[in-house]
Amino acid sequence: MKADLQQQFFEQYGKHADETFFSPGRVNLIGEHIDYNGGLVMPCAITFGTYLLVAFNNDNVFRFKSLNFNEETEIPVNAEHRKTGETWYNYPLGVINHFQQSGKELRGLDLLFFGDIPIGSGLSSSASIEVVTAFALNELFSAGYNKLELVKLAQSVENKFIGVSCGIMDQFAVAFGEKDKALKLDCNTLAYEAVDSNLGDYVLAIINTNKPRKLAESKYNERVKECQTALTALQHELNITYLCDINSDTFDRHKYLITDPTVQKRAQHVVEENDRVKKAAEALNNNDLNGFGKLMYASHDSLRDLYEVSGTELDTVVQYAKTNPDVAGARMTGAGFGGCAIALVKGDGFKRFSNDVIAYYTEKIGYAPSVYSSLIGDGVGVLKEQVKS
Ligand code: GLA
Repeated sequence: MKADLQQQFFEQYGKHADETFFSPGRVNLIGEHIDYNGGLVMPCAITFGTYLLVAFNNDNVFRFKSLNFNEETEIPVNAEHRKTGETWYNYPLGVINHFQQSGKELRGLDLLFFGDIPIGSGLSSSASIEVVTAFALNELFSAGYNKLELVKLAQSVENKFIGVSCGIMDQFAVAFGEKDKALKLDCNTLAYEAVDSNLGDYVLAIINTNKPRKLAESKYNERVKECQTALTALQHELNITYLCDINSDTFDRHKYLITDPTVQKRAQHVVEENDRVKKAAEALNNNDLNGFGKLMYASHDSLRDLYEVSGTELDTVVQYAKTNPDVAGARMTGAGFGGCAIALVKGDGFKRFSNDVIAYYTEKIGYAPSVYSSLIGDGVGVLKEQVKS
């Protein structure tokens, strides 16, 4: 893979890249729509991700090329950087802009990106490209940020330059991910624990619904606002900073403060999902994968009925999963509105699961999903191997 990419870089720029960086995508095992409510999430980095090959140039420009998209551009280093339409290079440009706005001196770069995360699949291709760019700039220009600062910087790019009010989970997971570990992350304190994701006889399946995620960003921002409305209502009586500062019992006693029934449902999901993550972490520690799986199903039901971010496609995958005795649990993962579901499947039943879910889904939805058996991989880094030329 790396040698091929070097070849591609050479074809594009007529020279070799100075460095190659990689940042993964992520799946979230449980704890959905929790990060911006200050609670617990449990994501892990996956082995799909974004590669960035880069070389300095003396032309005082940033050149952006990608092997995934035809659009490419060249932007003067000292121009005023602005988001342009929906193009892919807004993400790295936003990161460059952030570095420069923070007083970091940059010089011309030739950049080539390649991602093998299925695009628009909800596996955090945007966090991956932001973090790989931030990490690369930090290394190339000795900017002196630590990893957590890079994570916050990438999140801020997504919030301010791109305009999605996302929480910190994705950027955190793709930066701090560890092979074969899930990260139990407290999104309030940012304390985290790398939990052995010992799945025993099970494997983690990723099922991409292949549904284009239309309106996902505006719906996402709408949910963030609804949670803020719920929090403000509860704060009339409770001294809290985040919805996840209370448990389900306290919520039940105070939910009357939230007068809009839709907003109340959103808050109920958040509070109960946060409780579920605590139970899920215990289940994982006790190797109780059936218990973990039940919590996954409960999480999905809540995202479908209370938070309303699922959809026929994701529900169809989970419906199928419930009929297969080799599956301990399944749920949508990420923001929702299309994208991917995950399932805990017995290793020796994976092939059958994959064939059957494809058949079931295709019959109901009219086109096929893609199914992968995921490997939990490491977070962002430099790819060290020497390139043969
Ligand atoms: C998206 C956001 C995350 C998180 C999830 C939902 O992936 O980028 O910050 O809110 O949705 O859990």
